[in-house]
Parts: sequence; C-alpha cells; structure tokens
Amino acid sequence: MDATAQEDGVRPDYTMDQPIERYSAGDHAVWRKLFDRQARMLRGRACEAFLAGLSGLNLVSDGIPEFARLSDLLDAATGWRIVTVPGLVPDDVFFRHLSRRRFPVTWWIRKPEQMDYLQEPDAFHDIYGHVPMLMNPVFADYMQAYGEGGLKALRLGALDKLARLYWYTVEFGLIRAGEGLRIYGSGIVSSRAESAYALESPAPNRLEFDLLRIMRTGYRIDTFQKTYFVIDDFAELFEATRPDFTPYYAALAKLPPIPSGEIIAGDRVIHRGTREGWDANPDS
Ligand code: PHE
Ligand code: FE
Repeated sequence: MDATAQEDGVRPDYTMDQPIERYSAGDHAVWRKLFDRQARMLRGRACEAFLAGLSGLNLVSDGIPEFARLSDLLDAATGWRIVTVPGLVPDDVFFRHLSRRRFPVTWWIRKPEQMDYLQEPDAFHDIYGHVPMLMNPVFADYMQAYGEGGLKALRLGALDKLARLYWYTVEFGLIRAGEGLRIYGSGIVSSRAESAYALESPAPNRLEFDLLRIMRTGYRIDTFQKTYFVIDDFAELFEATRPDFTPYYAALAKLPPIPSGEIIAGDRVIHRGTREGWDANPDS
C-alpha cells in the first residue's frame, strides 16, 4: 500500500468520502476559472457526446461540485457511479472499479500555479474530463470492458500494451464529426492549450485509429502528444476492442514499440505532423 492509502478515512478499496470541508475558497476559484476557460475553448472543438454529457450532469462553473450529486445523475443515465479516491490508485484497484462501473475521482484540485499542465489527475481532470463521457451509453460500456481487459492484461503481463490504448483513446482520442475532427479524450478536454493544439496545430500527426498499432505506440506524459488517433464513432472503438486480446498480446510481444512521433508503413495518415517544437525526451 502506498502512503496516501493510509490517510484517515480511506477504505481498503482506496475509496473515501469527498471531504467537502477541506476545499478552500481558492480551490473553488480554481475550479471556476478552469471551467469557464474550457466552456469557451470547447465550443466547436469537443464532440457532441461530451457536450451532451456535460449538460446532462448540470455541470456549471459555481465551484467544485458535490460528487454524490453527479454520481446519482450518472447512475440514472448509464449505471456508472463516481467513487472518491485520494489520488492515483494501484492498477488492479483501478481496473476492478472500472469493471464494476465505478469511476475513481481524485478529490483534490490543482493549485493556481498549475492551471495549464499537471502530470497527475486532479478533480477537474477526473470530473470535467472523464465523467461527461461516461454519460454516453456506448462509451460507458467501453470503459467497463476496458476495466475487465485491464485485469486480464495484468494476469498476462501485457499492461504496457493495454495502457497505450487507454492513453490514445480515453485520454487523448479524437473523433470525426460531419464538420471536421472533434475531441473526446479527457486529457485534451481538461487542458486549455491542448484542446487547441490537438485539433489545430500543424505539429502533431493525426492518424486513423488502428488497435494493434496503438498498442505498440509509446507516449509522453510530460508534453502535448506527438500523435493523435481518430475514430469514426464510439461503436468502432467498442467493436475493435471486443475480441479476446490474448493472441494480440502474444503477437505484439514479438514486435518493437513505435516511438510516439513516428509514422510507419500502413498508417492511414490524416495529417502528417510538421514536428515543430518537438523535443527529444524519451517515450514511456
Ligand atoms: N477485449 C479485450 C480483452 O480481451 C478487453 C478490452 C475491452 C480492452 C475494451 C480494451 C477495451 O482483453
Ligand atoms: Fe484521466
């Protein structure tokens, strides 16, 4: 168990009650500011499902919301619930929650000096970024299936492969809409700068979704992504990931990883990135 798990009031499954009384006026102000910024950024950039989820949750800028209230609305829509956690939880704990349609949300919010980038999830990323998408029935089922797949990947020693799929879909995925590309990835919708960068910058690659290719692709957690993958709709994602991954993992074990910015033969390229502003830090 890590240190945070021993914090007072944290249960063995790493859940706790949301400590509303611990939020300061400054914390609520950070939420309001992040929320208002994204409301402006995401018009015409976030996908329909995200925007519909946001309004279905009655998420407004007021201040950090009560998770229990959101959880009831979410439950009524797709049978998912929010559970409050102290921060990142161990992989097996995370997957077990997802497989039971429980989404772990970090209770605390970033400091004012971290408005633009944060490497670990906080309440704004988890609530604003993830929960609206869980209001969508197809995406909700995908996330549960992912949780079950995570437990299997752990048993098979293939978590590095499956984690890349989460990264390039749930966190940084793009989707095609009639009018052009739109964002559904939580890591993008909760970031002001990346919501413009992911769609409009000439620097990153934008490639068609390709399950096995994604599971070979390294990623960066410390900067904007070098490559984004685009799906046509959530049904495509759900169908592509429906098969048993056991043989996929066996095949992938023999193939080298692909660096995050690389384009390889067979890629269906929507936009070839100019690589402008990229640095040489290694992928994970
Ligand atoms: N079908 C995958 C497996 O057998 C599970 C999975 C579902 C993984 C959805 C990711 C997303 O491992
Ligand atoms: Fe996230």
